[in-house]
Amino acid sequence: MDKSKRKTIIAGNWKMNKTMSEALDLTNQIKPLTNGADCEVVLCVPFTNLETVINALKGTDIKVGAQNVHFEHSGAFTGEISVGMLKELGVQHVIVGHSERRQYFGETDETVNKRAKSALQGNLMPIICVGELLWEREAGITEEVLSRQLKLSLAGIPDNDITKVIIAYEPVWAIGTGKTATSEQAEQACKFIRLCIEKLYKNELADSLSILYGGSMNASNAEQLLAKEDVDGGLIGGASLKALDFGEIVKAASIIV
Ligand code: PGA
Repeated sequence: MDKSKRKTIIAGNWKMNKTMSEALDLTNQIKPLTNGADCEVVLCVPFTNLETVINALKGTDIKVGAQNVHFEHSGAFTGEISVGMLKELGVQHVIVGHSERRQYFGETDETVNKRAKSALQGNLMPIICVGELLWEREAGITEEVLSRQLKLSLAGIPDNDITKVIIAYEPVWAIGTGKTATSEQAEQACKFIRLCIEKLYKNELADSLSILYGGSMNASNAEQLLAKEDVDGGLIGGASLKALDFGEIVKAASIIV
């Protein structure tokens, strides 16, 4: 295993926050703090802010992602957004299967798989989220849960597409709760995820896949988490809404690269 082979990625997940003018303000604050970083920076913003943020980031290396995508190209799916719609705007990444989508919007491993495949077909990089609930960790079945989520979410994704997939390990009990997984817990789970990928794909593909940790990552714990061998970046919720904090996390990732 060689961490330096892998891309370090810091992705902000703004969730349902920021109106268009607020998004522009935040982007303009984040830009000077993260531009030229030694890691890949992605801002996953609400659909309504995509165009504004993409325009504001023109000429920088910062990428813009969406937080969900539908698996059909077009049709009678009121309220949904397709891969083609995102691509035409200049979106490059999309979060798929976030635990909030699973918890509140009926997302299942099957729909995660469909969305991921559709994103890949349209050349969007899916950030596929997996993670256990608190009771599952307490019952000692974290690995079983991760293994099932990965197997089902990645079903039918061929070798040449897995190189475009990013996995985010987000223990549900750590999301938005201020309860971060210890760096050891994060490492253990990310290492296990890599082992699962190794079983499903060739070793070198597992070795080059970026696995992010998400769940209350912030400016003070980022360095410790990111220093771990199998933690290749972060998916940041709350702290990505504060430019200075997000900038500090990007700085911590850049030091480690
Ligand atoms: P958090 O969210 O950093 O606020 O815990 C992470 C996420 O939900 O992606």
